[in-house]
Amino acid sequence: MSLPVAVITGGAGGIGSSICRALAEVGFSVVVGYNKSAEAALALAKSLHGAGHTAELAPVKDSYAMKQLAQRIGERYGRCDALVNCAGITRFVAHGDLDGLDDALIDDILATNVRGAFASVRAFRPLLEKSTITGGGVVVNLSSAAGSIAIGSNVIYCASKAALDNMTKSLARALAPRIRVVSVSPALVDTEFVKSLDQSWRDEQAARTPLGRLGTPNEVAATVRAVITTLTFTTGAIISVDGGRPLK
Ligand SMILES: NC(=O)c1ccc[n+]([C@@H]2O[C@H](COP(=O)([O-])OP(=O)(O)OC[C@H]3O[C@@H](n4cnc5c(N)ncnc54)[C@H](OP(=O)(O)O)[C@@H]3O)[C@@H](O)[C@H]2O)c1
Repeated sequence: MSLPVAVITGGAGGIGSSICRALAEVGFSVVVGYNKSAEAALALAKSLHGAGHTAELAPVKDSYAMKQLAQRIGERYGRCDALVNCAGITRFVAHGDLDGLDDALIDDILATNVRGAFASVRAFRPLLEKSTITGGGVVVNLSSAAGSIAIGSNVIYCASKAALDNMTKSLARALAPRIRVVSVSPALVDTEFVKSLDQSWRDEQAARTPLGRLGTPNEVAATVRAVITTLTFTTGAIISVDGGRPLK
């Protein structure tokens, strides 16, 4: 019998690469979706534990390309059991700086973080519906605590993650019982990019977190893996991985 298949958009990114490794370790064939980072995605796919991994162009703003990708995955594997919508963008703009958040940036954030996740689900729905893994096909949307606490890199990024969480609930209802849809919602995660930011700012974020530190990509990946493999009666939920950040 063939191995279960997981497609991860933004799979070569700071969090996405940890998710790819976590799913490969429990026996998934992993499709590392990339937009610009083809080389990193290919290298990651080659390095993963297990079998059947590949790197594929998955430009989430291009709905037609996502449909074509789903078709290729169907032809190659005959299945897709898990879709992880990890592709996402943002840029730091102070919340009071309304002119700093220009229309092009607003459109780009919403097209990637919201429309892109929807388009990916739309493209992979037929394959996910046919999944035979325990709990059925599953979509995990990488959200953010920013979506609920409205504190984050900019106003529209926060709004995009609120929209994503809302979409998680609508789609969970609409696609049940064959497909589960769950948001995994981290606060600031100590990716290589975040590590490159000002240390005093990172310390301040950690101080505002009841557990006293930032999350790690592996902790987010372990949560995504649990949603897919263990939390098989969970759908429409927003699962926090944030050290209690909204409490403080
Ligand atoms: N880091 C944090 O603190 C944090 C906290 C909460 C939530 N999140 C969420 O977690 C997810 C991953 O974040 P990260 O920190 O790992 O960021 P990252 O390293 O910048 O990764 C973002 C990924 O998104 C992909 N991407 C961007 N635009 C795309 C497009 N148009 N089509 C397809 N893929 C696209 C990038 O692919 P290419 O490189 O191939 O272009 C990249 O792999 C995001 O949704 C983010 O909002 C992050």
